[in-house]
Amino acid sequence: MNYQFSDRLKNLEGNAIREIFKMLANPNIISFAGGFPTLQLLPTKEIDAIAHEILSSSQASAILQYGGTEGFYPLLESGLEYAKRTGLEGEIKNTLVISGGQQGIDLMFKAFLNKGDTILVENPTYLACLHILKTYECKAVGVNSDDDGLNLEDLECKIKLHNPKILYVVPNFSNPTGKTLPAEKRKAIAKLTAKYRVIVIEDDPYGEIRFAGERIPSIKSFDEDSNIVYITSFSKTISPGLRTGIAVADEKIIRKMTIGKQAVDVHTSNLSQAIIDKYLRKGLLEPHLKEIIPIYREKKEVMSAGIAKYMPSELKVTNPEGGLFIWGEFENGLNTSETFIEAVKEAETAYVCGTSFFASEDVHNTLRLNYSNATLEQIENGTKKLGDFFKKKISEMK
Ligand SMILES: Cc1ncc(COP(=O)(O)O)c(C=O)c1O
Repeated sequence: MNYQFSDRLKNLEGNAIREIFKMLANPNIISFAGGFPTLQLLPTKEIDAIAHEILSSSQASAILQYGGTEGFYPLLESGLEYAKRTGLEGEIKNTLVISGGQQGIDLMFKAFLNKGDTILVENPTYLACLHILKTYECKAVGVNSDDDGLNLEDLECKIKLHNPKILYVVPNFSNPTGKTLPAEKRKAIAKLTAKYRVIVIEDDPYGEIRFAGERIPSIKSFDEDSNIVYITSFSKTISPGLRTGIAVADEKIIRKMTIGKQAVDVHTSNLSQAIIDKYLRKGLLEPHLKEIIPIYREKKEVMSAGIAKYMPSELKVTNPEGGLFIWGEFENGLNTSETFIEAVKEAETAYVCGTSFFASEDVHNTLRLNYSNATLEQIENGTKKLGDFFKKKISEMK
C-alpha cells in the first residue's frame, strides 16, 4: 500500500546514530559511536534489590496502578532535591517527572512551538534536539561556539535577527563537543534571554559526570524572569533503561508540559520512578558516582592520549572535564562523512560524523568520539586504527 504519512514525518529520516548501530553488529568493530553509559557499570544488583523491596511491600499494587501525570510524589521531592544540587530554586509545583531528558525537550517544543517557528541552538548541538524539532516542522539556527561554549555576541545578534522563542543549550560536557559553559557566561545567558524574552531549555544530563574541575551553578540558578527550564535525567548517572528525568520550571510552564505529557504517555512508569526515588533516598547515588567517575576519567585519558599519539596533527580535539564525548575537527578539511563507511570496514572502528550535529550548515570535517562504551584496550586499539586510517586518507588528499 502507498501510505500517506503525515507531512510532519514524511521527510524525516531515522536518527543518524540509530542508523549507525545497524552497521555495528559485527563484534570485531570498535565503536566510538553511541553515547551509552558503560554497560558493566549499570547498578543491576542495587536496582534488583530495590525493585524487590518495592514490589514486595504494601505499596506494590499502587505502583502497578495508574499514577498522576506530574509524577510519583516521593520522586518529585527527591528529584527536586537532586536538581537543587545545581544551585537552582523551586518547589514541587515547579517540578515534573519526565520519561528521560529527551521527553523534556519534546514537551517543551510541544508547549511553545508552532509550525515554522525558529529556535536557537549551539553549533554543533545534540542531534536528537534537531530531530525532535523537525517533527514540529520548525527550524533551528546555529549560534557560533567558542572553546567554552556559546558565543554571546553571536547569540545576541541571532536573537535580534531571528526573534526565536527558545534557546536550547547543554551547559555541562555538551553532546557532542564535551564543552562546558563557565559561570559568567551562564549568568550572561540568563540576563540576555530575560531581556529579549527568550525561553531557555537548559538540558543537563551530564553535570554529575565531572572528573576534573569544579561544579558550576546551572543557568537556571541565575534565572531572573522565570524563562529558564532546567531538564535533567538519570540516564547517565543511574540507568537509561529506566527512562526517568526531572524538569524544573515556572509553574505555568510545568502545567503546559504536563498537559502535553498526558497525551503522550500518561505518566512515567511508576516502577521506574519508585526505583529512582529509593535509589536517591538510600544515598546510593554518591557511592555510585564515586565508582563510575574514575573509570570514565581513565577512559577519557586513554582516548586523549591515543589521539595525541596516533591521530594526524590536523585533527584538533576538545579536552572535556566530564561527560562522555570528545569532539574533533580536521583543520585540513578532511571529509569525515565520506570516510565513515571505509573507516568502519578498513579500520574496524566507528565514530559519529559531525555533520549530523549542525543546525543547517553542511560541515563535514568534524567527528564525535565516545569513550564510555569501549574498554581501555579497545580505546587504545581503536584510536591507533583510526589514526592510521586518517593519516592514509590525508596523504591521499595531497
Ligand atoms: C544532551 C542530551 N540531552 C538529552 C539526552 C537524552 O537522554 P535521556 O532521554 O535518556 O534522558 C541525551 C542523551 O544522550 C543527551 O546527550
